Amino acid sequence: MKRSEINAAIVTAKKRLEEYRITLPEFAYWSVEDWKSKWDVTGRIRERMLGWDVSDFGSDDFDTMGAVLFTVRNGDKNDTENKAPYAEKYILLDDTKEQSLPFHYHIDKTEDIINRGGGVMVVEMFNKAEDGKEDRENDIVVYQDGIRHTYKPGEPIYVTPGNSITIEPYMYHRFYAQKGKGYLICGEVSKVNDDNCDNIFLYPQSRFIPVEEDEAILHPLVNEYDNI
Ligand SMILES: [Fe+2]
Repeated sequence: MKRSEINAAIVTAKKRLEEYRITLPEFAYWSVEDWKSKWDVTGRIRERMLGWDVSDFGSDDFDTMGAVLFTVRNGDKNDTENKAPYAEKYILLDDTKEQSLPFHYHIDKTEDIINRGGGVMVVEMFNKAEDGKEDRENDIVVYQDGIRHTYKPGEPIYVTPGNSITIEPYMYHRFYAQKGKGYLICGEVSKVNDDNCDNIFLYPQSRFIPVEEDEAILHPLVNEYDNI
């Protein structure tokens, strides 16, 4: 992705969050210079990969595959005392661009994906088949805000503002904003998040992608702290 595309996506995300009176932690607004000057006190933020995360998952087409994410908090899988066994993110999806996250499952993480407002979230899910691919035969069973639901494999599940869906390990899922219903602000509340190891994609994808530096960095991404 081009840096200009990443910067523009973050600017839009911040604007939409502001419209919904959502303010992120201070480090969401820091420049590269701010990060450099605060380096000594930000070890925990950097280690736990908190912050902006913009990816097209290697598709080279951010308009149809990609999202702006912001990790607000996260535990550390190497913390043997497991003092913070949770994570929280925002996931921002542009309904005018048919943006989607690619089909993937997690081995370890259970996550609640929440529609925080702005649009309608559409979720598609499959069980993982024996061969590792998507199971197109058997229904899926999920909990949505504590209530059990059964759906056909891959059937669109519409989640309106305030509502959520619980995604357990080994369930393929993808989600996107329903077109024309508004820019979508999703939340994620989950077990500790490990984006380096715990995303198994149905089709070959990259979680973090190379960036073409065609303009200055607005905010560094979670995988870039060591390079600034
Ligand atoms: Fe996921």
